[in-house]
Amino acid sequence: MTSSGSADGLGPSPTATTPVSEWSTVIDGTPTTFRSVFTIPASADEGLTNNLLPNIEDPQAVNAQDVCPGYKAYDVKEDDHGLTATLRLAGQPCNVYGNDVEVLNLKVELQAANRLAINISPANIDSSNSSWFVVPEDLIPRPQADSTSGNIDLEFDWDDEPSFWFSVTRRSTGDVIFTTENKKIIYEDQFIEFVSALPEDYNLYGLGERIHGLRLSNNFTATIYAADVGDPIDRNIYGSHPFYLDTRYFETGNDGKRKLVKHDAMPGRGRGGHSNGGGSNYESYSHGVYLRNLHGQEVLLQPESITWRTLGGSIDLFFFDGPSQPEVTRQYQQSAIGLPAMQSYWGFGYHQCRWGYRNWTELREIVDTFRAFDIPLETIWVDIDYMDQYRDFTLDPHTFKPSGVQDFFDQLHSDNQHFVPIVDSAIYIPNPNNASDAYDTYSRGNESGVFINNPDGSQYIGAVWPGYTVFPDWMAAEGVSWWVNEMVEWYKEVPYSGIWIDMSEVSSFCVGSCGTGNVTLNPVHPPFSLPGEVGNMIYDFPEGFNITNATEAASASAASSSQAAATSTSTTSASTTSYLRTTPTPGERNVNYPPYVINNVQGDLAVHAVSPNATHHNGVQEYDVHNVWGHQILNATYQGLLSVFQGKRPFIIGRSTFAGSGKWAGHWGGDNASKWYYMYFSIPQALSFSLFGIPMFGVDTCGFNGNTDMELCARWMQLSAFFPFYRNHNTLSALSQEPYRWASVASAAKTAIQIRYSLLPYMYTLFYKAHTYGDTVMRALAWEFPNDPSLAGVDTQFLLGPNLLITPVLEPQVDSVNGVFPGIVDGECWYDWYSGAKVTAQAGVNTSISAPLGHIPVFVRGGAVIPLQEPGYTTAESRKNPWGLIVALSEDGDASGDLYIDDGESIEPAETKFISFKAGDGQLKAEVQGSYGDSNALGNVTILGVDECGGEIKLNGVSAGDVQCDKDSGVLRFSLKDVTSGGAWQGTWTLTWE
Ligand code: GLC
Repeated sequence: MTSSGSADGLGPSPTATTPVSEWSTVIDGTPTTFRSVFTIPASADEGLTNNLLPNIEDPQAVNAQDVCPGYKAYDVKEDDHGLTATLRLAGQPCNVYGNDVEVLNLKVELQAANRLAINISPANIDSSNSSWFVVPEDLIPRPQADSTSGNIDLEFDWDDEPSFWFSVTRRSTGDVIFTTENKKIIYEDQFIEFVSALPEDYNLYGLGERIHGLRLSNNFTATIYAADVGDPIDRNIYGSHPFYLDTRYFETGNDGKRKLVKHDAMPGRGRGGHSNGGGSNYESYSHGVYLRNLHGQEVLLQPESITWRTLGGSIDLFFFDGPSQPEVTRQYQQSAIGLPAMQSYWGFGYHQCRWGYRNWTELREIVDTFRAFDIPLETIWVDIDYMDQYRDFTLDPHTFKPSGVQDFFDQLHSDNQHFVPIVDSAIYIPNPNNASDAYDTYSRGNESGVFINNPDGSQYIGAVWPGYTVFPDWMAAEGVSWWVNEMVEWYKEVPYSGIWIDMSEVSSFCVGSCGTGNVTLNPVHPPFSLPGEVGNMIYDFPEGFNITNATEAASASAASSSQAAATSTSTTSASTTSYLRTTPTPGERNVNYPPYVINNVQGDLAVHAVSPNATHHNGVQEYDVHNVWGHQILNATYQGLLSVFQGKRPFIIGRSTFAGSGKWAGHWGGDNASKWYYMYFSIPQALSFSLFGIPMFGVDTCGFNGNTDMELCARWMQLSAFFPFYRNHNTLSALSQEPYRWASVASAAKTAIQIRYSLLPYMYTLFYKAHTYGDTVMRALAWEFPNDPSLAGVDTQFLLGPNLLITPVLEPQVDSVNGVFPGIVDGECWYDWYSGAKVTAQAGVNTSISAPLGHIPVFVRGGAVIPLQEPGYTTAESRKNPWGLIVALSEDGDASGDLYIDDGESIEPAETKFISFKAGDGQLKAEVQGSYGDSNALGNVTILGVDECGGEIKLNGVSAGDVQCDKDSGVLRFSLKDVTSGGAWQGTWTLTWE
């Protein structure tokens, strides 16, 4: 029944002597017990050794720079478009963390007007090792040279002394943006290193995915290795984005000379101080760097250098010359990774989710209660609870009975609401001794040969929620088509609107093929207790909770300690002093324990993930493609949705992403916790995903792990309303956190959702531009105000598009928040969203803004015309309501903006409409292009920043409606009669008010 070890020799397997346990959980205080099942022992998810010492923490680690010879260049050939050369090892191989590659090819290409490519690959690649080095084009396309390479602002230089090095210089400024001078290139089968000098106090952003401030620290290592782990700070988590933005600020002195501005020398940078707020003395230049490499890697950010180390692949570097952040981001998306998917209109509605919605009746109650409280709900989500024993593409026959589907969906769809289920990455493997355990999704996949194997060709069997599982192989000939078919067939039973992809790192709860020989135990319980099960009760609350709720907190913590005493089992951790260091074996790769140990949050590469030696049908080892498994399932799911909803935009939110995943999906921030600091981290995480080309981003609002509380949830419901993806999600057994659970959260949510829904046309237009040009949606202040070095690290405030400034409260127990009003030094102005009054603030000064609970400070940028639509209960209803406009006049008295509309769902809409607005001198002009039919009237127009109340309001010269004017705050509001016959955007018009 059991085996003594897994097929690949990685990690212990459970034995029959492991006790069978009760699988019980407490849901809303009711203990619920499931039948006895075998529990995978916790030790199954530990590596062969617990004492792998990450190289960066190893005092005895050999510095490759000290022992390796570097390379010398031969056969250098240069032309207008670049250079080629052969690089040969300049001395004896060092074989420091792998086997040295003796001969390399260097290819430098001026690929486009804004892009330089540097590729260093082994000269002799045979078919047996090509995947170690060369990323397949069909997996991650390589940016290609175009014909416009003429005017690039980047220059490549190289030299051979003391060994081969190269540099990239911005021609127009002479600034060296990347140089490996005096550093060696190390190139081995399992280790590549290159090092560039950077200016002191550099401003780097990106290198995700991680929980970190927006501006990366200058003394920290960014590990990139997809991991299923609940959002630890500064560690590798779900996604892999080997890309950074580098912004350099310069100051022109009185002598006319440009000098680099050091970040740490800026007075009052970020919150809590003063600076001069930038201005014309300053300018900035940004460039982007993308390493097209899929391997586990880490980037050492040291005070004056960046060191890139990868566990394989090639040096395939792309430099984007900017010179502004928006240009870098556009260049990166347009030419390298692909533009983000256009989202369906409904995707911008409010989403409610939790782990622990137990049945159709409860789901219906949730949907009904939202309506009873008049809190807009667009989409109800279900977590793994709906599945039959956590198996994909099934329904629990008792709680989510197939017979309940029709009623549930008839109502949901007639109310214009949506349903998104979770779909996990692993596939349950049925117990062969139990005929009733048969599982069609597995059988069909097994017949089609679509699951990942062990090196010996047997099926690789790990474990996830349902028990022992297998894993789809996206490189198997029929991998994608099998998945598409499962989605299409299941849709016939459950008419979902989109898909939530989880566990895609790809996660496995045991090391190695732990299910090999154990499948007859299936279904088994994961090797840890689920939230709410004995030993894993949730007593944690947000930081401020014990102040606001002292009594409740005291009783919760008393219960917590007595529970802990009752359930504690003694755990002794072996103390070890010796660490595993593996050394390279000549001519061989050790993929499970590579000689260079990255600082993986899980320890061994095989812990809590499919093992590196798991083997794909095309022979590729998981080691070489681990970081893109999550990217590939998003592609497969996108294909599935295209088949289900032909011609419509797929809605997918996924957990593990790679550079380019935005083409298919959005992303949520993973398992955060109900803590104030996670609410803060949601902002830099979102802004980083703006840089990564995945604008459809949001986090588990009100927090996932732990219990939330009223104050945190109220603040968070308001903050997330300004993120593109807006979903409240909660872990199993934590206190319920739908916004209507507290009166003040309900009211805060309503206020914020109302603003959000009135802004849907603005958000949608931003997405159109993200999808069309690669513009960002959520923006860092530094990106819109590039000549203000004090904004380089600001991530407690952000902009939605160019024109809305959000300054959220991020701490408990306060009723005001400090924030800057960027651009004032250059004559910009801001208006309060709520009152319309112009803000009086000084340049660069952190201003205290009133923000009692229930109020999120939002400001409109002077010079903006913002399109609005009267909010309805759903986005479908909102789309039928009258339009509105806010015209926020600049200090010069003018404003402009635009609006994109289409049917909100077609991949290639047959008809679209684009409206440009221009205001000034007492008039507003709307120019309409395109033919999309929209018959909603123009309801109201609000002008901010007027000096006088003016006279009659006229549209195309005809008296158009009522005027309300508040001279003190400079706000003019027009309520229009139905003057735009047939709809606001039937044709070009001019509105006058003076
Ligand atoms: C993972 C997901 C989380 C989900 C849970 C159960 O932890 O990140 O969102 O609720 O699995 O499916």
